[in-house]
Order: sequence, then C-alpha cells, then structure tokens
Amino acid sequence: MSDVLDRPDAGAGFAVVGTRPVRPDGFDKVTGRAAFGADLVMPGMLTGRIKRSPHAHARILGIDARKALALPGVKAVVTGADFPDLASELVEGGEAASNMRDLAVNVMARDKALYEGHAVAAVAAISPAIAEAALDLIEVTYEPLPHVIDVEAAMAPDAPLLHAHLFTEGLESRPTLPSNIAKKHQFVRGDVDAALAAAEVTVEGRYTTKAVHQGYIEPHACVAAMSPDGQCQVWSSSQGHFMVRTYCAKVLALDISDIRVTPAEIGGGFGGKTTVYLEPVALALSRAAGAPVKLVMSRDEVFRATGPTSGGVIEVKLGATRDGTITAAEVTLKFQAGAFPGSPVGTACMTALACYDVPNFRIVGWDVVTNSPKVAAYRAPGAPISAFGVESAVDQLARKLGADPIELRAKNGARNGLKAPYGPTFQAIGYQETLQALKDHPNYAVPLGPNQGRGVAVGFWFNVGGESTAAVHVGEDGTATVVTGNPDIGGSRASMAIMAAEVLGVAAEDVRPVVADTASIGYSMLTGGSRTTFATGMAVVRAAEKVVDELKRRAAGIWSVPVEQVAWQGGKAICLDPAKGDTPPLTLKGLAGQSARTGGPISAEVSLNAQGAGPGFAAHLCDVEVDPETGHVKVLRYTAAQDVGRAIHPAYVEGQMQGGVAQGVGWALNEEYIFDAEGRMENAGFLDYRVPVASDLPMIDTVMVEVPNPRHPFGAKGVGEAPIVPPLAAVASAVSQAIGVRMADLPLSPPKIRAAIDAKGA
Ligand code: MOS
Repeated sequence: MSDVLDRPDAGAGFAVVGTRPVRPDGFDKVTGRAAFGADLVMPGMLTGRIKRSPHAHARILGIDARKALALPGVKAVVTGADFPDLASELVEGGEAASNMRDLAVNVMARDKALYEGHAVAAVAAISPAIAEAALDLIEVTYEPLPHVIDVEAAMAPDAPLLHAHLFTEGLESRPTLPSNIAKKHQFVRGDVDAALAAAEVTVEGRYTTKAVHQGYIEPHACVAAMSPDGQCQVWSSSQGHFMVRTYCAKVLALDISDIRVTPAEIGGGFGGKTTVYLEPVALALSRAAGAPVKLVMSRDEVFRATGPTSGGVIEVKLGATRDGTITAAEVTLKFQAGAFPGSPVGTACMTALACYDVPNFRIVGWDVVTNSPKVAAYRAPGAPISAFGVESAVDQLARKLGADPIELRAKNGARNGLKAPYGPTFQAIGYQETLQALKDHPNYAVPLGPNQGRGVAVGFWFNVGGESTAAVHVGEDGTATVVTGNPDIGGSRASMAIMAAEVLGVAAEDVRPVVADTASIGYSMLTGGSRTTFATGMAVVRAAEKVVDELKRRAAGIWSVPVEQVAWQGGKAICLDPAKGDTPPLTLKGLAGQSARTGGPISAEVSLNAQGAGPGFAAHLCDVEVDPETGHVKVLRYTAAQDVGRAIHPAYVEGQMQGGVAQGVGWALNEEYIFDAEGRMENAGFLDYRVPVASDLPMIDTVMVEVPNPRHPFGAKGVGEAPIVPPLAAVASAVSQAIGVRMADLPLSPPKIRAAIDAKGA
C-alpha cells in the first residue's frame, strides 16, 4: 500500500512531474543489454589481477616479481614503487572529502599492509589463467605485526599503532604521542551536565553495531588504457566519473585533461562507489604493458578490500521531565575508520539529534583507525549508527514514561525555525507531518499477538546540492536529449527526462536522457548525498528553460513580433499579439524543423552550484514476531513515512524508501563482518554474509509526505538516504518489546536473541 498525502499543493499544475513513466534504461537492464563495468572489451586488452595481503597488519620487507615477469604471457607487474608518493591533501569528492595520500596508499600499499586484502602488487597478462598464475609467482616478504580491529581496543594507549604520523586532531592541544585516534568531533549546546542532574527522568544505554558492507550486486570493474603520449581512457562503474578522473589524476600525478572517463552502467553503489580502487592500478598496468587492461574484482575482493561502513559504539544519556519534555542529551560515538582516517563519525554526530529540539546536549565523536578495510560512504553515512543509539534510548524513555513513541517524538521534534544541532536553521521541513502520517497509518493500529513487538524510529539526512551540469538539445524532429554527468543509480534518468519534459511541455518519452563522459559534459559532482534529482535536476530545469526562451525567440522572429508577445504553453509557442489574433501556434516540432533558417541548432547547457537542498526526515514503524525456539525474527509489517519534498517520479521515490528499509533490516538482523583471531574476514561471500532476500521481507508500505522544497523549481528534496536511518532502531525496539529484553548489540542474529531469552529466564 502506498499513497501520497493529500496536500493542497501536491501535484498542483504539473503535467509530467509526479507521473510514473517507464524508466528509459529499464529495457536494457531487464534484457541484459546494459553495459556494466566488466562488459567493455577493447582490442589487445589484457587481464589484470591484484595480489593482496594475507595479513591484517604487516611490514612489507620486499617484493620480488622476477618469476612472475618471466612467465610467458605476463606483460607487466606494478607495486607501490610504481606510484608517486603524495602529500597529505583533502579533496572534496562530492560526498565526503578524501585524503589523496591515504587514497593512493589504499590503492597500492607501500611500506606496510594495513588490513587483510590490502593491494600489494598487480599483474597484467594475456589471459585470466596466466594472470592468476603470475600472482602466485610474486614473492612478498612480510614481517607480521600485531593488529587491532575493535574500535575501543584500537583507542587504548598500548594498542598496535597503524600510522606513526597520526596525531589526534580536535583536542585542545596537540598530543605528544601518535595514536589510532584520528580526530575528536564535538557539538555542544547549553549545560548538559546540569540538565542531566536536574532531570526528573533519565535513561541511558550503550549500543554497538558491526561493520557492514554496502552489498551492491555489481563488483568493482574497469578497463583502462594509456597511450604512449599519455592520453588515458577509463571505462568504469562508479557513482561519479568526474570523481574517477580527479582521483586517477591525483594518484598517478597526471593532468585531468589527459584522462577521459566514460561511465559504465552501475549495478549498485550505495556510497561504496564514491572512491577508486582499481582505476589507477589499471592505468599503471596499462602504462607498463602498453595495452588496455581490464580489472574486475571477485566478490571476495569486494568484501575484503572495499568500503564497508564503520562498526561503532554509541553511548546515550537522556534527561526529561515527567511529562516527556527532553531536556538533555549526551551522546558519545566511537567509529572504526578502517585503515585510514575518515569514518563517518562527523556526520553521525551532526545527525544524532537532528530530529529533536533539545536545549542541552553534548555530542562527542571519535574517528579511530583499525586494521580493516578503509570505510567508504554508505547511504546517509554514519546516521543509521547514531540513530540506532539515540532512537533506542528514546524508545526506552517512551516505555519508562508510558508515552506514545510517536507523540513523544512529535512533542520534542524539530520544527521550522529550530536551529539544528549542527548549525543551520530548519526551513520548510516536513518532519511533524511525517510523524503524523505514521500515526494515522492503519498499521499503527494493528493489534499485536504473542511474541510480537512494535518499534518506532525516526531519521534525518541533510541531503546535499553542489556542482552539476546539464545540456538540453532539441533534435530536428522536435524530440529532445537531456545530457548530464551523473551516473543513474536510482532512476535519475527518468527524473531528468520528467523535469525537462515538464518545462518543454512534451511527454517524458519525447526526452531521451543520456549520461555523458567527462569530455562531453561539464563538471558534475558524483551521484551521492541524495543530490542528483535536486542539483542536477535544477541544471536540467534551467537548461530546458533556456531552450524555451530560445524557442520563443525563434517564434517571435517567424511572426515578426517582440518576444514578450510569445508564450510557451503545452509544448507550443502561442502568439499573444492581439493584432495577430488568428496566428496558429508553432509546435516544438515545427520550430525545430525550421531551426536552420531561424538561427541554427537549438540547445542550451547550464552549469551551477546548487544551494538549498532540503533536509530529509523519515519516520518508520516495524512489527516483528520472534520465534522463541530458534531466535529467528520475522518482519511482519514495515511502514516508512518520509518527507520527500516533491516526488518527481513517485515509483522511484517509493523504491528508494523500500530499498533503504531493506538494507537497514539486513544491518539490524544479520549483516556483519566477522574476523578471526588473525584479523582475517571469515564471511567474505553472500552465503555467509547474509543480506535480506525477497522472502525475508514483507511488502514495505510507504507514505510519501510532500512538503515542497522552496529552493527547487519543482520542490524536490533528496530521498535516497533518509530511509536507511531509522530501520536499525525500529527493528531493535520491536524485537526488544517482543522478547522483553532491550537488544543493544547488532546484528540481532538468532544466537544473540536465543542467548538474551535464556539470560532473561535464568
Ligand atoms: Mo552517498 S552514501 O553515495 O549518497
């Protein structure tokens, strides 16, 4: 069941926005024609393979590639020595900044292997079999070192040290010794200690989560070719080919203009494809071998060597009055960053209390390096983890007060005009409306049976804007092409076509959306931060408006009237000059057909830096039933309400909401990185790392609440990330109610639930 709330302004006056045309890329995807990262074949192409560290932490004493290079069919071997050493430099990738020195060392290890799976060498050969054989012939001499993966263990003063150059940032004075604590983040308002001491009711808890992977179905893959004159071609699957271009240029010390990146179709990213792993290595191999090189990861490599998100510890104390006014909140977050600094603990701090109006708070976050893969962005990076702690604590408070969990959240909830904990003042947010929609939903009134529980949780995500380019070209037959630089991950081709069609006054099917390579469209930040429909969409709207202006000029010329006497309505130029009252309208097709005589091709390109992304709020309701014999959790019903601004293509908004919930349920119930005593991942495959499949989930009910964003021409807000924020807590609170024990350590896998039930009975 799904519905758009009846708002007076919902859908008002739109012909195409809010409709549900079939996605333009759908046919190719369901028939298998779509070309993903591994699909490109180039003449003379070699196969690359990467040799990876078997140790979680080890000094690399030497690499001897002579035997591998002597194997017939092997064309090149590269190691860290083939890459320049970079200075520490933060580069904005579009979602989170990346340190280029760390990125380069993550791509290919230098003096140390920092996690199991860290790349230490790569080979290119004429066949996969020869490349595999060559990997075994590369001799790496290691000195194994003690390792640390648990976040609190890594914070201890005597923990094995990953980086001798790492001194904690964010402290009052620079520490005298290096440590694994990369950074302290802090957000403070009011006097939390006094407010907690004065509170009539307090709750407190300690919650933990494990590292989980984004779990995209398509492994990382690329083909790269460097010609003898240094011109580079890269074809790869990523969330942003301009990001790939920037990072390849940095890692290999090349000029951006010498690299052309073509986006392959992308089979899922969820934040995990906002960085590079393979592309610079493929270019280095291509340079050494003098031929194009393809690199494709196995699923095992994806798990061991690409970004999971952090495992974390979240400590929460809440103070409130007896009538349920939250007066104080103290939140401490400790996040695994993996092998290099940069966990999403900063955004976890910023989002932790963003749904609440709390006068006194202290939020402290610790970014901690560990001997595990460097974390990568994962959908609303950090927010699901902090929300798991905060929402679990709010659930405890509601139960302690005997309050309705939705009403308690509404009473203390963010409203327009509130200065958010992370700084800005909220405007045009739809949080209260979203809570109300959840409260009104029939699922909230379904009676619960034995062993069943119900959890409520809310979530926030900023959504971002940023730099985007779009071009709209009118063809000679009056159809249009809309060109952007953003890979289509969640249906953005459809939303771009819809927005251009709305402005042009034509059908969505008359607009062909194209994702162009880095040489064929202006710069565009990557597809992430739920920015594409908002920011790139704004560029599309502005470009289409320029095209309409031009069409009106052409019509004015044909009619010999001032352009002010021409209107554009329903895809036609209308003459407003009363003296020419019977002038028939000129259609887009008619104007396009005579464009050569009226000034040439009709097209426009707009580059902008979009500001004013509306933040997203989600409120979720989850009903579960726990089997007390096995500890298995069945999700009975799941209801997701969200302020979506304006749903440009409602089916893909619902899809984002359902997808976020599915991933969040997996995170809550089953998914986790499991390491052995040597720090090697034990479950690097989808058999042992269990993501939810269709049979694990009910139909996820969605309610799109439309509170339009005044800063977007059609009111769009980002929708892709907020829906993964509440599920961890919603599921955990439901399970806690079902078994009568507060479950604070994810995942809630059957053995843990059985143990909790046994401990309660004992
Ligand atoms: Mo980002 S986690 O790719 O929106």
